[in-house]
Amino acid sequence: MGYEEMWRDLLPIGRVSGGGHRRYSWTAADRECRAWFAEEAGRRGLTLEEDRNGNLFAWWDVPGERRDAVLTGSHLDSVPDGGAFDGPLGVVSALAAIDLLRERGVTPARPLGVAVFAEEEGARFGVACLGSRLLTGAIDPVRARGLRDADGVTWADAMAADGRDPEAIGPDPDLLTGIGCFVELHVEQGRALEVPVGVASAIWPHGRWRFDFTGQGNHAGTTLLRDRRDPMLPFAHTILAARDAAARHEAVATMGKVHVTPNGVNAIPSLVRAWLDTRAPDDAAVRATVAEIRAAAEKVAGEHGVEVALAEESYTQVVDFHAGLRDRLAATLGGAPVLPTGAGHDAGILSAHVPTAMLFVRNPTGVSHAPEEHAETGDCLAGVEALAAVLEDLLTR
Ligand code: GLV
Ligand code: MN
Ligand code: MN
Repeated sequence: MGYEEMWRDLLPIGRVSGGGHRRYSWTAADRECRAWFAEEAGRRGLTLEEDRNGNLFAWWDVPGERRDAVLTGSHLDSVPDGGAFDGPLGVVSALAAIDLLRERGVTPARPLGVAVFAEEEGARFGVACLGSRLLTGAIDPVRARGLRDADGVTWADAMAADGRDPEAIGPDPDLLTGIGCFVELHVEQGRALEVPVGVASAIWPHGRWRFDFTGQGNHAGTTLLRDRRDPMLPFAHTILAARDAAARHEAVATMGKVHVTPNGVNAIPSLVRAWLDTRAPDDAAVRATVAEIRAAAEKVAGEHGVEVALAEESYTQVVDFHAGLRDRLAATLGGAPVLPTGAGHDAGILSAHVPTAMLFVRNPTGVSHAPEEHAETGDCLAGVEALAAVLEDLLTR
């Protein structure tokens, strides 16, 4: 399938009214994405394999052992109402780059794999890059098995329901040691790239924290203001405190997900559970931002007779991509710009284990994690060309 046909088949999967995508792990949309990938791999005669953690790999093998392989690819899952490009662009571009290399008669000296990592967004089970974390041992499999979605379904039960063995998940050193390097192409997610293609330098440290504000559920009409223990009030204060703390530390902080119990219009809530995402160029700024938000939450919760608990659900240290590989990519592309990002990627997880680099494709609006996410076709095709050039260099030298 050509480039446009691949998009034509992939775009409708998990698309909701409003134009965004809901492609959550181990759901019907996820199965369709996996089937799409299997079909595209099959069409190209690539060997499709799924590891013990739900990650997919399509291999253009060379005779002999699978070692010193070049890995590319990205993910196909999405955030709630996610755009078309975050993840899929890296997978579609990888397959299109293989087509280009073959058209050009390139003979790889080492294997090339296209990866589709599972649960990159953490949209269903809360921990981003779960597939690559499991593969590399960055998360305890016991903890991963017990991660729950909003309905209380565990990762273990969800993967078992889809025919996988949750007892088998965990680090896969055999697979990892066969990988010589990883190059992930991704849509740039801000407005930092002014030419079609750039190279990543770093990923900001980032993490997710869960706040539980526990008060007393009660009647909205009969409970006097002075008698209330309303958890919504310290939560509201915490949102504003997050904004102020982030501004003070040149960080970003977001509270974009909240569950209110019981969520009734005429009831004071008993529990507000809300998630904080904080990122900054350096670790100290993230930690200082979160510490200030926590202090503000605790102070105001106390004033309202509300209990507050904070749990760190995930944390990713700063990632500085492999300097040699980064420079090699930039040179192959004739001096492409090199830039950091505040977005998380499987490349960040892999980079602790294998030389890793990223290519970014321009995002003219800077909108991402939203249906309006966009990249011009010309820029996407420049991305395919760039990836093909980089892969040819890595596969043949
Ligand atoms: C993933 O896209 C993230 O940055 O949260
Ligand atoms: Mn994303
Ligand atoms: Mn992504």
